[in-house]
Amino acid sequence: MAETRLFPDRPINVCVTGAAGQIAYSLLPLIAGGKVFGRHQPVSLRLLEIEAALPSLEGVVMELEDCAFPLLHSVFITSDAREAFRSCDVAVLLGAFPRKQGMERKDLLEKNAGIFKEQGEALNFEAAANVRVIVVGNPANTNAYVLKHFAPNVPEKNITALTRLDQNRAVSLVARKLGVPLSKVSDIYIWGNHSSTQYPDVLHGSVEGKGKLSDLLDKSYLEENFIPTIQKRGAAVIAARKMSSAMSAANAVCDHLHDWLLGSDSIVSMSVASDGSYGIERGTIFSFPLRCSRGGNYEIVKELQLDDFSQRYIKITAEELYAEKAEALALLS
Ligand code: NAD
Ligand code: LMR
Repeated sequence: MAETRLFPDRPINVCVTGAAGQIAYSLLPLIAGGKVFGRHQPVSLRLLEIEAALPSLEGVVMELEDCAFPLLHSVFITSDAREAFRSCDVAVLLGAFPRKQGMERKDLLEKNAGIFKEQGEALNFEAAANVRVIVVGNPANTNAYVLKHFAPNVPEKNITALTRLDQNRAVSLVARKLGVPLSKVSDIYIWGNHSSTQYPDVLHGSVEGKGKLSDLLDKSYLEENFIPTIQKRGAAVIAARKMSSAMSAANAVCDHLHDWLLGSDSIVSMSVASDGSYGIERGTIFSFPLRCSRGGNYEIVKELQLDDFSQRYIKITAEELYAEKAEALALLS
């Protein structure tokens, strides 16, 4: 049966900020090639960059043209946020000041809060009424919180931040540790902040045919090895590449948007505004396990039992996010 399109009568308008950067270079072909919004959905791209990067962005546009993607309907480039977000159905916010080696994510708060305030205001006035937003630029959760604060017209549920990369990293590490195919590993969740306090939770997970991860991995391995490895994976990539992850980040953005808009049979992790679930302050952009259904709907999974071990980690990451939120709002006031 032919796959139905998200927008049967027109292309989907997708705004990507930081479009001349490294994540965009890996992501744009996935979007224009049909991997994100489906193999039959035409796409119009609206690409935002700072003025100084527009010449480089023109080169990216030439390459998009040279890919001859049948689904790519149009490409528009600008350095004006209001023009970029005009009528967009999806906004992918990559544009930010990237963390350099040795920098803590919190150092980025000040540099980025101003960018996300301006972009929140622009989205508020220009985007389609039901725009779906994913923030990737770090500190992603708090940038998304700032954006939400300045975009009251955008439904709160539609503003998300990327923690799917952390989930993918965790699934991959478990599969490698246990020597099993990735496809057999399920139900690994990320809680909290996309930072070194995040809690990668395997305690509800399993390996098909082998059993529960809580029986296959002991807590000392989780505490001393697995959890810190996932928490620090972004920093490890930066130390090795001298640049932050890009290919894997683009792949995770693709997974996040695909599952959010087209639905997924699996529970997936996304950072979304808390509705008070698991005691997390309402409105905090916090990574939870979610069920997504086609059309851009999701629900936080509510029925999970969290033992003391998990609760201890979740408290640490929640407290970091509350402090980041307060700091960002103070910077802006
Ligand atoms: P990059 O430096 O290669 O690209 C960022 C681009 O954003 C640059 O081209 C820059 O000119 C542009 N930019 C800066 N300010 C802008 C603004 N106000 N409006 C529009 N564009 C602007 O960085 P990258 O490697 O593509 O990474 C982008 C962001 O994603 C960084 O903040 C990085 O830390 C973050 N990141 C997040 C995750 C995650 O899982 N959440 C993973 C990897 C990277
Ligand atoms: C990652 O997890 O790879 C990035 O968020 C690292 C970073 O700070 O850019």
